[in-house]
Amino acid sequence: MSEPKVYKNLINGRWVESATGATFENRNPADTREIIGIFQDSDERDVQAAVEAAQRAYEKWRLVPAPKRGELLFRAGQLLIERKEQYARDMTREMGKILKETRGDVQEAIDMTFFMAGEGRRLYGQTTPSELPNKFQMSVRMPLGVCGLITPWNFPMAIPSWKIMPALIVGNTVVIKPASDTPLSVFNLVQCLLDAGLPDGVVNIVTGSGTRVGEPLLRHPDVKVISFTGSTAVGSRVARIGAEGLKHVSLEMGGKNPMIVMDDADLDLVVEGALWGAFGTSGQRCTATSRLIAHRAVVGELTERLGERAEKLVVGNGLDETTEMGPSINQTQLETVMEYVRIGQSEGARLVCGGARLTDGPYAHGYFHQPTIFVDVKRTMRIAQEEIFGPVLSIIPVDSLEEAIDVANDVPYGLSSSIYTRDVNAAFRAMRDLYTGIVYVNAPTIGAEIHLPFGGTKATGNGHREGGTQVLDVFSEWKSIYVDFSGHLQRAQIDSAE
Ligand code: UN1
Repeated sequence: MSEPKVYKNLINGRWVESATGATFENRNPADTREIIGIFQDSDERDVQAAVEAAQRAYEKWRLVPAPKRGELLFRAGQLLIERKEQYARDMTREMGKILKETRGDVQEAIDMTFFMAGEGRRLYGQTTPSELPNKFQMSVRMPLGVCGLITPWNFPMAIPSWKIMPALIVGNTVVIKPASDTPLSVFNLVQCLLDAGLPDGVVNIVTGSGTRVGEPLLRHPDVKVISFTGSTAVGSRVARIGAEGLKHVSLEMGGKNPMIVMDDADLDLVVEGALWGAFGTSGQRCTATSRLIAHRAVVGELTERLGERAEKLVVGNGLDETTEMGPSINQTQLETVMEYVRIGQSEGARLVCGGARLTDGPYAHGYFHQPTIFVDVKRTMRIAQEEIFGPVLSIIPVDSLEEAIDVANDVPYGLSSSIYTRDVNAAFRAMRDLYTGIVYVNAPTIGAEIHLPFGGTKATGNGHREGGTQVLDVFSEWKSIYVDFSGHLQRAQIDSAE
């Protein structure tokens, strides 16, 4: 085997070693004998240097006309297209999901890059009439400065692009800390920006742990925006730190996404949808379908058919085109899955299929787990309430649409939800009453497109959205401008003031 490549931090356009001199390994979760790369195990000194570089770069970048920034993004998007297959393969090797999905992940980054590139010619504000004659007024977006981005491993390129591209198009600069399980995909994404001509210091990468890199980044007084995707526990800590520094904080956290299946649903569609919703990316999506809330009239047949299909799913190395589900990301995540399987059994739910780690033959060196389905799940059970982030689906029987919606909403999270029905009234009721940021009709809970707002209610988020033009609100603030061209002092609201 050839020597693994050493990746350095990116600070002010240069690749530099960490001040610590320490490094960590990034290994393939499908075969942990393979090292994907060696990355810098940085600390607050590296963060300090990166934020300084970003702060300096900001003074020029904010003045580059937004359409020019957009052109750079268009070039980067084009490079991503050219490199898509290579980057998808890198991503499958570093995080395990199958090639079809990693191609989709890179595609999502391409889509976001082009979408935000186009915003360079829009970034719409308002113009409104004034109360006074010969006065003009408008509102414009302005950048904030340095953005600290902390990104997850499950969408290692898509989610970083959701944050980097809007930050840049508005005129901010960036310091990003990628997830330690998937730094390479962030390097690949940023390489396209560099090759497209990004000036030094506009994007900086510092790799390392949450405590030694993430925390100092959040606390740094020159970091004005924090965008975080990860667990609710860490997110609420991020929010507290951000509150102390009065920063813009955008949080994207957990989900416990329900799929409602009514008695008139097309069960062929449901089986396929549930399969990919629950087991795509090995269940490691915040949008994963983790609860199937099925009408009692169809729950028996559905459970049987779904169980049969899930048992036949081909689990393995995602680089093999015939594989349908890859491994969990790491040992800790795998143990969490195994722990929830034990919890489900001890709570009295019944296993339909799966329930065990895979260790034989091709599975010997990876974190593989069987696709797992529980039935007879009660709404209050932990497997029906807590995010597992693994290939585990809980089937909960219900008697009516009202009960289904009630169960669906009865969790701490509110990211995505779905309903399968042929009844247009039931569909519209669900669209109105499901309290989640995203609702699907006759489709699983996954598959959001980047030009609509992405995010959730309750413990899933803090009111912000990624995607859509709504994400621009995270990375900008408004300035209202009044121009008086009357040539003399005009007094607005003088009547009420006197
Ligand atoms: C996530 O689940 O962490 O909607 C993001 C989807 C993807 C993004 C998911 N486009 O499933």
